[in-house]
Amino acid sequence: MAVLSGAQRLVIGGGKRLSGELEVQGAKNSILPLLSGTVLCRGESVLHNCPHLTDADAACRILNCLGCKCKREQNSISINSEQLVNTDVPLELMREMRSSIVFLGAILGRAGHCRLSFPGGCELGPRPIDLHILALRKMGVDIKEEHGYLDCNAPKGIRGAHISLSIPSVGATENIILAAVTAKGNTEINNAAREPEIVDLAAFLNKCGAKITGAGTGTIIIEGVPKLGGAQHSVIPDRIVAATYLCCAAITRGELLLKNADFNHISAVIPAFEQMGCSIYTYGKDRIYINASKNLRAPHKIITSVHPGFPTDAQPMIMALASTLKGTTVFVETIFDNRFRHAQELSRLGAKISVDNRVAVVEGVERLTGADLEATDLRGGAALVTAALFAEGTSTITGISHIDRGYDDLVGNLRKIGADIENK
Ligand code: EPZ
Repeated sequence: MAVLSGAQRLVIGGGKRLSGELEVQGAKNSILPLLSGTVLCRGESVLHNCPHLTDADAACRILNCLGCKCKREQNSISINSEQLVNTDVPLELMREMRSSIVFLGAILGRAGHCRLSFPGGCELGPRPIDLHILALRKMGVDIKEEHGYLDCNAPKGIRGAHISLSIPSVGATENIILAAVTAKGNTEINNAAREPEIVDLAAFLNKCGAKITGAGTGTIIIEGVPKLGGAQHSVIPDRIVAATYLCCAAITRGELLLKNADFNHISAVIPAFEQMGCSIYTYGKDRIYINASKNLRAPHKIITSVHPGFPTDAQPMIMALASTLKGTTVFVETIFDNRFRHAQELSRLGAKISVDNRVAVVEGVERLTGADLEATDLRGGAALVTAALFAEGTSTITGISHIDRGYDDLVGNLRKIGADIENK
C-alpha cells in the first residue's frame, strides 16, 4: 500500500497525455457504513474489495476499540464481533474521521447505549447531525448533548418508528437503518437518501439476516429482527474515484478504460463528459471507456444534487477539468456550504474562477502553468492533482494526507497510465 501521507508532497510534471486501463477500487463511502454494520453481527463477517485508505484504517481502529476484532488480508477485512466489550468511542478516534458518527446507530442497535463526541465540522463547512439525533430520539433513544459529547441510552431498547427526513441525508439514513435492523417493530424512512452506498449497506445487512426493503428509493422499510449473524460481502466500486480517473484522462485529452466500474452509479456525471465533447460509453458489465482527444468545450452548467443527481463529491475534479475547456461553466453547489476551497488553489495554476457563496463561474483558459499547491480536503486535493496533470511544467501538492483518506495508491495508478507523478 502506497501511503502518500508518509511523503511530504506530490511532484507532478504536467502535459503528458494519459492512456491505458485501470481497475476502480472499492467505495470509501460504502466500506465505512459496512464496517459499522459489522458491530451488529454476532459472529464473523468478511468484507472483500476493501481499498487501503486511512479512513478505513480509522474505522478498523474504532472496531478494535469496541472489542470487534479486525484483521486485514490484502483487500479483505475480517471482523469478529462476537464480543462487544465497550460502547464508547474515544475522542481521539472520533477526531480522526468525522464520519465516525455512522457507528452510533450500530452500537445503539447492538448494545442500547453509546457515548461519543460530537463529530464537529470539517473543511466543507459545518457538518450538523440534527437529523440523526431527531430520528434516534423517535426510536426511543435518550440523547444528552453536553460538554461536546453525546450520551445515548435506550433503556427500553430501540423501537421502530416512522421517520420523515427533511433532507435525504446519507449519514442519517445509514444511522437509522443500523439502529432499526434489530429494533422492536418496523421502521419506515421517508425521503431517505438513495445513494448506491445505501443499497450496498442494505444488501450486506440482509445477508446477515436483516429485513430491509426499498434501499435505493426514497422509502425504506426495516422490519426489526432479534439479531444478526455474520456474512461475506464485496464492496461496490467507488463511483467518485471512477469519476476522478475519467477527469484525469479527459484533462490530458487522453483515453482510459476503467474496469470494475458501475456506469449506473455515475449516470449523472456521464452527460457532463458528453457535453464537453468526450466520447464515453460502457460495455460489458463493469467497464467504462472514455476518449477525449477531440476539441473539448465547457459543459456550461453543473448543479450538484442528491443521488441520482450530480454528486457533490465529483464537483471539484470536474471544475479542474472545466477550467481548461473553451467557454464558461457555472457551478452551483447545493449540498455543502464551503465546497469551493480548491478554486483558489486552482487559480494559482492560472485558472479563472470567481466564487460567490454557493456559485462558482469558471472561464476556461488554454494554458495552466505549474505551481506549488496545498490540498485542504479530500476531493479538493484530487482536483489539484487533476489540474496539475494538465499544467505546463512542474507542480507540487502538500496536504496529501487528505488524499490518502479516499484514494488507494493514486500515484501508482496514475503512473500506470503515463502520468509523471511521484511522492517525495
Ligand atoms: C456523505 O456525507 C459522504 N460521506 C460525503 O462524501 C458526501 O459528500 C455526502 O454524503 C453527500 O453525498 C460518507 O459517506 C462518509 P449528508 P454525509 O448527511 O452523510 C446536511 C467524500 O468526499 N445535514 O448527506 O455527512 C449536511 O450539512 C465525502 O467522500 C444536516 O443538515 O452527508 C449537508 O449539507 C464528503 N443535518 C447535507 O445535509 C444532518 O443531520 C448532506 O449531508 C445531516 C446532514
